[in-house]
Amino acid sequence: MRRYLWLVASMAVAQPAWSVTVDEAIAHYNPHGTLALNPKHGDELWHQKNTGEDGKERDCMTCHGQDLTKPGKHVKTGKVIDPLAPSANKERFTDLEKIEKWFTRNCKWTYGRECTDQEKVDLLKYLSAL
Ligand code: HEC
Repeated sequence: MRRYLWLVASMAVAQPAWSVTVDEAIAHYNPHGTLALNPKHGDELWHQKNTGEDGKERDCMTCHGQDLTKPGKHVKTGKVIDPLAPSANKERFTDLEKIEKWFTRNCKWTYGRECTDQEKVDLLKYLSAL
């Protein structure tokens, strides 16, 4: 058991398990390459306006802001969110666990449902070029 724990710990140090490039993250959602990547669709999804449970209009920019090279602000907590554009924040889209966690949360909050794999790859393609 001790030996096993040590092994797990040393693996975690050597390489974070979920560390990826954007292309690897996209491939995760498109393992067989059957989805065509459509950044224009990602752009539309990003700007798509929806009515939330509170009756107010919401979209992805409600928290991330209009200019993704600048920090955003969480609409509920008021917390500052680091820029989402990789050109301004090189840590963006390099952690698959994080990407998946926030896609799940933010799609539900913004659209009232989870995003499909097609939507995730289109959003990643659009956002990663910013
Ligand atoms: C209610 C506020 C809020 C809204 C609306 C929101 N986000 Fe986010 N988003 C966050 C927070 C908070 C984080 C995590 C903090 C951070 O990464 O700086 C985050 C992180 C992310 C990440 C992870 C980025 C990374 O570092 O890999 C992605 C992807 C993402 N958001 C996509 C979206 C998309 C797509 C939408 C619209 C469907 C959206 N967000 C709408 C608050 C929001």
